[in-house]
Amino acid sequence: MTLWIDVAAEADLFEGAGIAVTPEDQDIAVFKLEDGGVFAINNLCSHGNAKLCDGFVEGHRVECPFHQALFDVRDGTVSCGPATEPVKSWPVKIENDRVLLKLDQ
Ligand code: FES
Repeated sequence: MTLWIDVAAEADLFEGAGIAVTPEDQDIAVFKLEDGGVFAINNLCSHGNAKLCDGFVEGHRVECPFHQALFDVRDGTVSCGPATEPVKSWPVKIENDRVLLKLDQ
């Protein structure tokens, strides 16, 4: 079953930054890129106890605030260590000015 969850208003997002949302007890960071794209990945860094929503965003990558690993917010892959494992990415859509995440994966 497809389960789209309303997690935020689109107006809560700011270009080049992330926010934390916690639908269904998941800890997820939602990013709006400077080109307007909106993406969601797990908020917890795969390398340690850092929140990626607090990281610096440049282009389509977020820098972990602890050890500066770089993750591609579009798919959660690691662009630069020390992290080696990707973080899960989640489907996102914008509908009626709301941000929806698909949680059935
Ligand atoms: Fe994120 Fe170490 S905790 S790179």
